[in-house]
Amino acid sequence: MANQLLKGKKGIISGALDENSIAWKVALKAKEEGAEFVLTNAPVALRMGKINELAEACNTIVIPADATKVEDWENLYSQSMERFGGKMDFMLHSIGMSPNVRKGRDYGDLKYEWFQQSLDISALSFHKMLQTAEKMDALNEWGSVVALSYIAAQRAFASYSDMAQAKAVLESIARSYGERYGRLKKVRVNTISQSPTKTTAGTGIDGFDAFYAYAESLSPLGNASADDCANYVLAMFSDYTRMVTMQNLFHDGGFSFCGISDVIVDKMKP
Ligand SMILES: NC(=O)c1ccc[n+]([C@@H]2O[C@H](COP(=O)([O-])OP(=O)(O)OC[C@H]3O[C@@H](n4cnc5c(N)ncnc54)[C@H](O)[C@@H]3O)[C@@H](O)[C@H]2O)c1
Repeated sequence: MANQLLKGKKGIISGALDENSIAWKVALKAKEEGAEFVLTNAPVALRMGKINELAEACNTIVIPADATKVEDWENLYSQSMERFGGKMDFMLHSIGMSPNVRKGRDYGDLKYEWFQQSLDISALSFHKMLQTAEKMDALNEWGSVVALSYIAAQRAFASYSDMAQAKAVLESIARSYGERYGRLKKVRVNTISQSPTKTTAGTGIDGFDAFYAYAESLSPLGNASADDCANYVLAMFSDYTRMVTMQNLFHDGGFSFCGISDVIVDKMKP
């Protein structure tokens, strides 16, 4: 289905850990659509080695960056712009991690040091990505920046824990920075709120299989896959969505606007 939608566009894709990662699918499809990009992930993720396979398939390089460190963003942008010989057009923030979730801490017994790490890695990193890009003038006019979110930013999902707060902050940063960057440089900033997806980050949530099955039963179109999410990300990087900014865009098969479905009614019948 490739149409060279991103021909001539250059960018950065973060967060590809393995072939299940949403960012992995974005990279493969962006390549098909004619984009040039560099891949980045935390040094610890690079040690797994998988991302090098993706880099080879996409004919590109991997530049390590811990998303919580401003100096790593600076290095990533200067190396990327050197490679491209100029500014970039798109960036994907596909980064999330909560030590409290990972280590199974109950929401009534959170470790606050870890809570701060969840916010730093999963939300403030988005501000660092944007602020450093603005300071280094790394993006062309009409550039597009997308981060991935989840509906726990708006509604309570018990085991999503402190990641719910991180996603609320992430979406708020998209609005505030989108307003600023749009006015200054016509750069657009959005979040895509994706269905539960079977990835390392997704399946790390306690009860993920139930989240997944419930959303599948409630959504009229079913859960959106990682491949479908990648298509939406590419649409947001393309010139067909030039006037879309500061939005949280639900990509969830209709889940966010459903109350109950016949499938769930049938399941709940005594
Ligand atoms: N899987 C789902 O159900 C789901 C649903 C909605 C939104 N999302 C979001 O999608 C994004 C991508 O997650 P995924 O589901 O593809 O899982 P994933 O585990 O494949 O990707 C998460 C990535 O974050 C990276 N990361 C963690 N700490 C980092 C740091 N300090 N610096 C740089 N990178 C770091 C990891 O190395 C990994 O590549 C996340 O923001 C996640 O919250 C996922």
